[in-house]
Amino acid sequence: MTQKVLEVRNLKKWFPVRTGILASLLGREQKYVKAVDGIDFEINEGEVLCLVGESGFGKTTTARTVLRLIEPTDGKIIYRGMDLTQADRQQLRTLRSKINDLSKSI
Ligand SMILES: Nc1ncnc2c1ncn2[C@@H]1O[C@H](COP(=O)(O)OP(=O)(O)OP(=O)(O)O)[C@@H](O)[C@H]1O
Ligand SMILES: [Mg+2]
Repeated sequence: MTQKVLEVRNLKKWFPVRTGILASLLGREQKYVKAVDGIDFEINEGEVLCLVGESGFGKTTTARTVLRLIEPTDGKIIYRGMDLTQADRQQLRTLRSKINDLSKSI
C-alpha cells in the first residue's frame, strides 16, 4: 500500500491588507490578499510535488504555511498522520528539524 506522507485540504492563507486609520474610522471592511485560497494536494512516499506558477501565485506562501512557519487561515495539514494544525510547539520543533532541508530550499 502506498504511504501517504502529506495531505493538505482546503488550505488558505489570507494576509490582511493594511488600511489607513480613516478607513477603520469609517468602518470599512477589512480587505485581504488571498495568497492561498483553498488548495488540496497529497504526496505519497517516493513522490515529488512541484509547485509551478507565475510570480505572486502563492508558491512560497503554500510552503511556509505547510511548515507552519506562518499560521494558516484555514485548512488541514496532515504529515504522516499528524495533524499539524493541532501540533504543539514541541511537535513542530521535531518536525521542522526533520524537514529543515525543505525549508532552506524555499
Ligand atoms: N507576509 C505577507 N504579507 C502580505 N502579503 C503577502 C505576504 N507574503 C506574501 N504576500 C502576498 O501573497 C501573494 C503570494 O506571494 P508568494 O510569495 O507566495 O508568491 P510566489 O508564488 O512564491 O511568488 P514568486 O514566484 O515571486 O516567489 C502575493 O500577492 C504576495 O504579495
Ligand atoms: Mg516564491
